[in-house]
Amino acid sequence: MSERTIALVTGANKGIGYEIAAGLGALGWSVGVGARDDQRRKDAVERLRAAGVDAFGVPLDVTDDASAAAAARLIEDQAGHLDVLVNNAAITGGMPQEPTRVDPATIRTVVETNVIGVIRVTNAMLPLLRRSASPRIVNMSSSVGSLTRQSGPAPEQTAGPVAVAYAPSKTFLNAVTLQYARELSGTNILINAGCPGYVATDLNGFRGVRTPEQGAAIAIRLATLPDDGPTGQFFEDAGVVPW
Ligand SMILES: NC(=O)c1ccc[n+]([C@@H]2O[C@H](COP(=O)([O-])OP(=O)(O)OC[C@H]3O[C@@H](n4cnc5c(N)ncnc54)[C@H](OP(=O)(O)O)[C@@H]3O)[C@@H](O)[C@H]2O)c1
Repeated sequence: MSERTIALVTGANKGIGYEIAAGLGALGWSVGVGARDDQRRKDAVERLRAAGVDAFGVPLDVTDDASAAAAARLIEDQAGHLDVLVNNAAITGGMPQEPTRVDPATIRTVVETNVIGVIRVTNAMLPLLRRSASPRIVNMSSSVGSLTRQSGPAPEQTAGPVAVAYAPSKTFLNAVTLQYARELSGTNILINAGCPGYVATDLNGFRGVRTPEQGAAIAIRLATLPDDGPTGQFFEDAGVVPW
């Protein structure tokens, strides 16, 4: 079994995921670049390697069972175990997303990627994570999934636009994170949700105000928690995010 610390980041070909891969690579870790498109994955691996990161490509579409299983086999062959899984890949499903007009297909597609995709990839990787001395799972969520902030005094300032697929998909993901933490309590696996803040990426037409590197910081923090660190919680840079 490899002695190196091995991480897998889903949706690592661009945006925040790319910077999470770069940040974990800067720690000297070997980083699997999970990406569904061959060319985008190859380009990202090349850029990361040029920056000194020990990066390797992992073909991965989070909506596909066979793809997740193949990704687990690749990591098993390549490294024999996995220390850190960052479930970063997500979609908004397109805006606007008014509840009174939404196409139900949009909800299905977003949940398939943002929620079921995380469960699919996590369960495919769990046998490899269980071989690690300090396994960590980081689910990239969003504070728009916070029901407290959605129902607060000025939700348009703190919880984004009305978005009936994307925002509830992150609420669902937070709830799923908590269920994993409950089942895995008593093991050495820590699983938490993180919000990167409002980051300029493709996801929001580059309207965000933070850089992808700033957005990656919370994932790196949760990926490197000590063994007595928290599990089943939801964090942003400033601290705990209310559910
Ligand atoms: N940007 C923000 O302000 C913000 C705020 C809060 C939370 N977040 C969260 O942060 C994470 C990263 O977002 P981002 O802003 O960096 O978005 P992004 O630039 O749009 O990147 C999303 C990544 O997910 C990948 N992806 C989408 N569907 C996939 C699938 N089925 N299989 C594999 N990969 C897939 C994309 O791959 P392709 O290139 O192939 O499409 C891309 O690599 C997401 O979980 C997002 O919800 C972002």
